[in-house]
Amino acid sequence: KTLDDMGDVQGKRVLVREDLNVPMADGRVTDDTRLRATIATVTELADKGAIVLILAHFGRPKGQRNPEFSLAMLTQPYSDVLGRPVRFIDDVAGEAAEAAVATLNPGDIAILENTRFHAGEEKNDPELAAQIAKLGNLYVNDAFSAAHRAHVSTEGLARQLPAFAGRAMEAELDALEKALGNPEHPVAAVVGGAKVSTKLAVLKHLVGKVDHLIIGGGMANTFLAARGVDVGKSLCEHDLTGTAEEILDAADKAGCTVHLPYDVVVAKEFKPNPETRTVNVHEVAGDEMILDLGPNAVEALGDVLKNCRTLVWNGPLGAFETPPFDMATVALAKTAAALTQDGSLVSVAGGGDTVAALNQAGVGTQFTFVSTAGGAFLEWMEGQDLPGVAALTA
Ligand code: 3PG
Repeated sequence: KTLDDMGDVQGKRVLVREDLNVPMADGRVTDDTRLRATIATVTELADKGAIVLILAHFGRPKGQRNPEFSLAMLTQPYSDVLGRPVRFIDDVAGEAAEAAVATLNPGDIAILENTRFHAGEEKNDPELAAQIAKLGNLYVNDAFSAAHRAHVSTEGLARQLPAFAGRAMEAELDALEKALGNPEHPVAAVVGGAKVSTKLAVLKHLVGKVDHLIIGGGMANTFLAARGVDVGKSLCEHDLTGTAEEILDAADKAGCTVHLPYDVVVAKEFKPNPETRTVNVHEVAGDEMILDLGPNAVEALGDVLKNCRTLVWNGPLGAFETPPFDMATVALAKTAAALTQDGSLVSVAGGGDTVAALNQAGVGTQFTFVSTAGGAFLEWMEGQDLPGVAALTA
């Protein structure tokens, strides 16, 4: 159920779970993507005359009140993003919060204090859920990026009040359905990042789902080692080469082609702009480390994408924060963006460093959809049911 199914919300108090967990430095928001993602739902409800009560967490205050994690500091930046006044209520439950909510008028928007100041939030305590539910008439979950948490504000409230998916949640779920749920084939997945250990479940799930699995980043080294390649000083989880072999075998059986790097950029030191060589993977010297894919691999991967209809991307292909090891990620992201713009590819990306990498490539807005989620995107790529989503459909 979405906002379209809510009926008349005029004068109703709507508890809206958003993800305001944004990166900050020196009291300033350094990336407001998540704040902007809330605009559609919050303004629609306010314009329809609802009293909008925003629930959100910030950081991990471990069930204690802690001014360092207060959402008060986000009230002004959030109001700037919305272009409307936003009130702040300094608790999410209890008599003071109830009294403050009672002073609000239809169309008003308020942020309630960090849900994680209550220990019951992360325990999904029904008593806390009942207390928070007293503040509202209806519940909207618009925070896909927190939907992997079975907390009061993401899951428990859906069992206390009529529950609906917000516009951002809806857009995330639509995009994910197009990418892996019911995609147009051939489907390619790019999975990168430093370590295989954090993506094992993702890889195991994807081999049964996609036609092409492109493995990059430090984790590709573990797969190369599993295939008997000497990766020199490269980051490599040698204890996982057996698991990597199992994944390669499973892919083989499922008819999924795994693409590993065959030329690579290597250096003796990991620092900005060191001396580098571009070599075949079989020519990495004992004192060298692989830090990016080489141009031939990137070109071949571009050709793979040209023959695909759907792409799901998680993680950079090289050590992209350190120049020049962003080359492969930037080049392949540009190819994917161009194919998307031409209408031949549906491209969905998300998770941790991925959005930063796409933005660095200047193509963050040229993919079909870029998720705001980190951990939730990964769990979804693992094929897991997300409690926050499941609660909306129950
Ligand atoms: C995120 O930043 O991925 C979400 O806001 C969830 O935060 P958490 O990992 O602290 O639950």
